[in-house]
Amino acid sequence: MENTMKNYEDVDSWKTIMFLYNSALKEVGTKLEILNDEFQHVHKYNPIEHIKTRIKTPESIVKKLRRYGYEISIENMVKYINDIAGVRLICSFTSDIYRLAEIGNQSDLKVLSIKDYIKNPKESGYKSYHMLVSVPIFLSDSVVDTKVEIQIRTIAMDFWASLEHKIYYKFEGDAPEYISRDLRECAEMVSTLDEKMLSLNEAIKECLEKQEELNISTKTKETNRQDQRVLQGLD
Ligand code: GTP
Ligand code: MG
Repeated sequence: MENTMKNYEDVDSWKTIMFLYNSALKEVGTKLEILNDEFQHVHKYNPIEHIKTRIKTPESIVKKLRRYGYEISIENMVKYINDIAGVRLICSFTSDIYRLAEIGNQSDLKVLSIKDYIKNPKESGYKSYHMLVSVPIFLSDSVVDTKVEIQIRTIAMDFWASLEHKIYYKFEGDAPEYISRDLRECAEMVSTLDEKMLSLNEAIKECLEKQEELNISTKTKETNRQDQRVLQGLD
């Protein structure tokens, strides 16, 4: 880190900024845990499979600023790099994605932008819901709105994205067309799998509800029969 920082005049402000991004990750992480706990409490169901958080390395911050054509400075990094603090939410079903995205409606969060790559997948086949938010960090003498990029996707979408990233990395973004095509095909298979799993989950829920109703009505009948026997003095 120190190597990348050599050109910066003010290491102290780098440390302060990183402290803010880390705090923002903690804030958003806690909000998500609470949301998940509430779902467990009310619906007996966890929408979140797992949460990954990360802070971008100084090397990738510098690389990105160069790619964007900006001078390497702390000011530019704060202004132009939106994913220094990142949270990835992995959920079971596509229906969970939009439920979790409602976190953006919380009054202390500001939604700065939304990229819905589920409704509009990328050319590569990539699917995920991206939300850029800012969260207020309360310091002893000030409040600083700090940016966090939230990516929400299903386990299947995450599986595809992780492998595609590895494959593309090997080709440094210049993969032969047939490989890109096969990857897009895999993305379609992943979407089909997600749809099947969602409808299977709905079918299971319906089936369990029917069984529950049946149990209740059998129990009621049984109770009625017992009541009648008591009335008839048989018991
Ligand atoms: P970047 O400059 O790369 O951050 O792109 P952007 O600022 O236009 O944001 P975008 O929402 O397109 O992508 C941000 C992040 O989404 C990336 O850093 C990846 O984590 C992920 N992502 C986007 N496109 C793809 C893709 O085609 N494949 C994979 N595996 N991940 C992707
Ligand atoms: Mg980005």
